[in-house]
Amino acid sequence: MMLKGKVAVVTGAGRGIGREVALLMARHGARVVVNDYGGSEAGTGGSAKPADEVVDEIRRDGGEAVASHHSVASMAGGQAIVGTAVEAFGRVDVVVNNAGILRDRMIFNMTEEEWDAVIDTHLKGTFAVTRAAAPIFREQKWGRVINMTSTSGLVGNVGQANYAAAKLGIVGLTKVTALDMARYNVTANCISPFAWTRMIGTIPTETEAQQARVEKIKKLSPAHIAPVAAYLATEQAKDITGQILGVRGKEIMLFGHHRPIMRVHHAEGWTVERLGEMVPGTLQHHFVPLDTSGQYFNYDPLV
Ligand SMILES: NC(=O)c1ccc[n+]([C@@H]2O[C@H](COP(=O)([O-])OP(=O)(O)OC[C@H]3O[C@@H](n4cnc5c(N)ncnc54)[C@H](O)[C@@H]3O)[C@@H](O)[C@H]2O)c1
Repeated sequence: MMLKGKVAVVTGAGRGIGREVALLMARHGARVVVNDYGGSEAGTGGSAKPADEVVDEIRRDGGEAVASHHSVASMAGGQAIVGTAVEAFGRVDVVVNNAGILRDRMIFNMTEEEWDAVIDTHLKGTFAVTRAAAPIFREQKWGRVINMTSTSGLVGNVGQANYAAAKLGIVGLTKVTALDMARYNVTANCISPFAWTRMIGTIPTETEAQQARVEKIKKLSPAHIAPVAAYLATEQAKDITGQILGVRGKEIMLFGHHRPIMRVHHAEGWTVERLGEMVPGTLQHHFVPLDTSGQYFNYDPLV
C-alpha cells in the first residue's frame, strides 16, 4: 500500500500500459482517475467503454476510481481531466501522461494532419495535463509527474518523425518540469517502455525471423511497466527526478543524457578548412552511427 491517500490521474488508461498502471496504483491504495477517450490506434473515433471497464475492474478489486473520457490533446481537456480528480477526490498528487497514438509515414510523405495529430496527443497532451496539475502541486508542495517517452525519440526509428519528435520533446518537457518544480517537492521523470500492446501490433511478421522476434516481444507484458510507474509516484522516490528509465519485461535500463562527450578548441577559431582537417581524425571517431537497421534494441530481451 505504498500510495495510500494519493490521488493519481492516468491518461490513456483504458488499455495497454496505462490500464496496468491504473490497476496497480489502485492496488497500492491510490484513488485513480482512469482517463481514456477510447479511440483507434490512429486516434480516430471514441468510446467510453475502455475507461469505464477499467474503473469497474478497480472497484471490483476493492479500489476507488472514476472515469474521464476527455481527450488530452487540448488545454481544456487537460483542465477537465485534472478537474475530475479534484471534483471526485478533492485533490491530485500524481499525473501519468501515457495517452498515445501513432500515424507512421516516411518524412517525404507525412502530412500536416499526421504530424499535428501525433504532436497534439503526445507532446501537447503531456503539457496540457501537467499544466493543469502544476499549480495544485506547487500549492500543496508535493507532486509526481510520470511521462512516457520512447526509444523512437531517444534513438530514432524509421517512419516515425512525428512520434519521435513528440517523444524526445517530452524528454525536454520533463527535464524543465523537474527543474521548475524542484523547490516544491515535485518530481518529473520519463519511462521508456517496451511492451506488447495494440500500439505495436502492426510490427511486420512476413519473414520467419520477424515472426520469431514478435513471439519474443509478445512476452513483454504492459504489466511489467506498472511497478516502475507506481514506484516513481511514492514518497520514497522523492529524490529521483529528471531521469529516463527504460522498462522491458524484467529489465530496467537507465538511459544516458545529452552531454558533450569531447571538446576541441582552436586558438584562432574554426574555419571550414580547419574543420575539414580536424573532423575526420577526431570528432568523427566518436560519432554514434545511425541505427539504420532499426535493430538497436532487438538483442534478446531477458524475458
Ligand atoms: N507499447 C510499447 O512498446 C511502447 C513503446 C514506447 C512508448 N510507448 C508509449 O506508452 C504509452 C502507452 O502506449 P500503449 O502501448 O499502452 O498503447 P495503447 O494503444 O494500448 O494505449 C494507449 C491509450 O491511449 C488512449 N488515447 C489515445 N489518444 C488519447 C487522447 N487524446 N486522450 C485520451 N486518451 C487517449 C487510447 O484510447 C488508448 O487506450 C504511449 O504514450 C506510447 O507512446 C509504448
